Amino acid sequence: MPEGKINKPVDPKNLTEGEKKHIPVISVPESIVAGKLFDVTVQVGSIPHVMEEKHYIEWIELYLNDKKVGRAELSPKNEKAEATFTVEAEKALAGKEGKLRALEQCNIHGLWEEFMDIKIS
Ligand SMILES: [Fe+2]
Repeated sequence: MPEGKINKPVDPKNLTEGEKKHIPVISVPESIVAGKLFDVTVQVGSIPHVMEEKHYIEWIELYLNDKKVGRAELSPKNEKAEATFTVEAEKALAGKEGKLRALEQCNIHGLWEEFMDIKIS
């Protein structure tokens, strides 16, 4: 899969509507425990992105500390531009911070990403 240039918001504190429709929103459980599985939901857009024949989200990927931990292939048949990934917090991460990164590809507007720091107990 070719990796193009990742779009960045022009002013992160004052997102445009187009940016709000593409920057992923990451949701995690309140507590994440090392050695256990947890679910991460990635929704494309704080304003939900459309899933239409001519304009849709092609895929969503999730990384934990730079390691790819999930990829969801989407199509206009999917109702929502959203995916849930089940991730394992490795035992070695106990008591540490982890960095989640969500990356998504819109068929028209390209690549967008978002990050979230998580605490692993
Ligand atoms: Fe788009």
